[in-house]
Amino acid sequence: MSTTTSTNSDVLTVTAAAEARRSIRKYEPTPIPRAHLNEILRVTGLAPSPWNLQPWRFVIVEDAATKAKLQEAAYGQGQVGAAPAVIVMYSDMTDAIATVEETIHPGMRGAQGEKAAADIRATFAGFSDSDRSAWGNAESNIALGYLLLTAQAHGYSTSPMLGFMPDKVKEILDLPADSRIPALVAIGVAAEEGFPHHRHTVERIARFV
Ligand SMILES: Cc1cc2nc3c(=O)[nH]c(=O)nc-3n(C[C@H](O)[C@H](O)[C@H](O)COP(=O)(O)O)c2cc1C
Repeated sequence: MSTTTSTNSDVLTVTAAAEARRSIRKYEPTPIPRAHLNEILRVTGLAPSPWNLQPWRFVIVEDAATKAKLQEAAYGQGQVGAAPAVIVMYSDMTDAIATVEETIHPGMRGAQGEKAAADIRATFAGFSDSDRSAWGNAESNIALGYLLLTAQAHGYSTSPMLGFMPDKVKEILDLPADSRIPALVAIGVAAEEGFPHHRHTVERIARFV
């Protein structure tokens, strides 16, 4: 597993990225360099997850014909075809549980690591299939938040989407039948400003006790 750290001083702070981010549905056709996508995905993967299970997986769709199929599966949403890349984020709990030894921290090798792996597998054996996939989907949403902010921090806008037919997307990309798709994320250089933020005040959504 990688432990590389980004040192690019052009990268926005978390607060600056959150202030700047908005859903963008029109994009410049400029392709995104593979190194930038790799870095955005690496930082996204720093998201935390219970037991460090990291159930999120990604397919980065740049091929025009595949994007056209995805756009159809996303009810024709224009940003799918307009963006130079669409990141299909999915969670794969079957893979995450089968390969749990990869994600257990190296500090827990040996008997401690084996016990952790057995505990994790026993816990999920007690879940129904739908509860297990819902769990993976919920945890992958943490990484989705990281992805949106990280893209913005690196100068790329995004449009997260839940408006799509999951079975169609799985078929197009040959994703596992029991996977879940927290979002399709169009990504690229913005060709519009998007809408200004319209959010609840802190007083409306939080209380201090
Ligand atoms: C998980 C998720 C799914 C969304 N699905 C869609 C979608 O299918 N189509 C769309 O145009 N916008 C979609 N949005 C964008 C929201 O409408 C948008 O985030 C919200 O109105 C706030 O605006 P902002 O992103 O510009 O701050 C989605 C956002 C999220 C986080």
